[in-house]
Amino acid sequence: MRAAVVREPGSVDAIEIVEVPTPVPGPGEVRVRVAAAGVNPVDLQTREGVFHRLGWINQTEYVGLGWDLAGTVTAVGSGVEFVVGDLVAGLSAGVDRALGAYAEEAVIPAAAAALIPEGLSLTDSATVPLNGLTAAQAVALLGTANGSLLITGAAGGVGGYAVALATRAGWRVTGLARHSDREFVLSAGAVDLITEPVGRFDAVLDAAVLADIAVGLVRDDGKYVGVIPPAVPDGRGRVETSAVNVTADGAALAHLLSDTATGLLSARVSATLPLDQASGAHKTLAAGGQRGRLLLIP
Ligand SMILES: NC(=O)c1ccc[n+]([C@@H]2O[C@H](COP(=O)([O-])OP(=O)(O)OC[C@H]3O[C@@H](n4cnc5c(N)ncnc54)[C@H](OP(=O)(O)O)[C@@H]3O)[C@@H](O)[C@H]2O)c1
Repeated sequence: MRAAVVREPGSVDAIEIVEVPTPVPGPGEVRVRVAAAGVNPVDLQTREGVFHRLGWINQTEYVGLGWDLAGTVTAVGSGVEFVVGDLVAGLSAGVDRALGAYAEEAVIPAAAAALIPEGLSLTDSATVPLNGLTAAQAVALLGTANGSLLITGAAGGVGGYAVALATRAGWRVTGLARHSDREFVLSAGAVDLITEPVGRFDAVLDAAVLADIAVGLVRDDGKYVGVIPPAVPDGRGRVETSAVNVTADGAALAHLLSDTATGLLSARVSATLPLDQASGAHKTLAAGGQRGRLLLIP
């Protein structure tokens, strides 16, 4: 089967399409024929070598790319309830692995997958796992809803879900995004949109990684939740700071997919591209301004 991998991190040209043996699922794992794989900032960071520099990569030949996937189960390991033919979405989590979701077939823990509900397409489903779970887990880190919440990057992958989920949790959400994002951010549930980081909030969920600037917008004794665990800004004894580190959760993913099927959450696809255009997809995402996920179709 074909997969997109990185041998030597670097520019978008570092992405290579290789022919590799089809992986075999072990106990508790499923193999999925990937219908669509999401292109996310973490894939750009992996390809650029961010995690190599942190010493997190221990692969001998290459690292695989891609966390988000949707497709058809083609094989199951022992102890798995999914059956061949099931349509699932799932999270291929982690940066230190030879193969990820950018592949014709991907093996993931069954606990990281969920059945796709009726009415939701494979492409729409592939946009949900990473950003939906990150947003849900970041909102959970904020604790009980307690007044006003600023979500930076409110029109992005994580931020878009976070606006809807935090609103539903009872926060009064303001979104920081571009002027052109007003309709989306307000329709997701925000009461206001700002385009510059100003104001005072009970909490901030910093999906745009404004870091110290965002901490500065939190009231004394408020909360800051970031999205970059190795770089949590200092709250200087004034603000409680933490960062989400997404973990796979098939049960939570099932809820997110169901909410997407019913329209409570929006599935946003910006474009679909063949797997061998992964380099071009990275270039497009790096340029900014994407709304909705780019998807690779192996
Ligand atoms: N820790 C974890 O578990 C985890 C999991 C998933 C993602 N992440 C991280 O979360 C971050 C966001 O990911 P994502 O997928 O949501 O990225 P994304 O889709 O690119 O969204 C980021 C959004 O922030 C906006 N933005 C950036 N600076 C802004 C500013 N000054 N004012 C207004 N809007 C601004 C961008 O707008 P423009 O496009 O117009 O610039 C974009 O809409 C990434 O760093 C990613 O690596 C972490």
